[in-house]
Amino acid sequence: MEIVKIDGLKKYYNMKNDVVKAVDGITLTIVKGKFVAIIGASGSGKTTLLNCIACLDVPTEGSIYLGDSNLCELDESR
Ligand SMILES: Nc1ncnc2c1ncn2[C@@H]1O[C@H](COP(=O)(O)OP(=O)(O)O)[C@@H](O)[C@H]1O
Ligand SMILES: [Mg+2]
Repeated sequence: MEIVKIDGLKKYYNMKNDVVKAVDGITLTIVKGKFVAIIGASGSGKTTLLNCIACLDVPTEGSIYLGDSNLCELDESR
């Protein structure tokens, strides 16, 4: 059973003079009962990814399903 399903996730930050591509097209599925570690160099986008999964940040593009809910389609209150 899939509990987290991410497709084509991008998170870009528009800065004054450039665009920071913190997450640039991630696709991954996490199934129930699996232990998953996200590893990567400092600045590679781990925290940004987790913030998007946790609804603390809004993706620029792509979809995140937690169970049957597409987080990107929830309104602010939900
Ligand atoms: N709020 C933000 N505004 C602008 N750039 C950001 C912001 N948060 C993270 N970044 C940039 O996005 C990239 C990924 O950062 P981050 O997700 O914190 O990486 P990690 O957790 O893997 O170290 C870095 O280049 C970082 O500087
Ligand atoms: Mg981090």
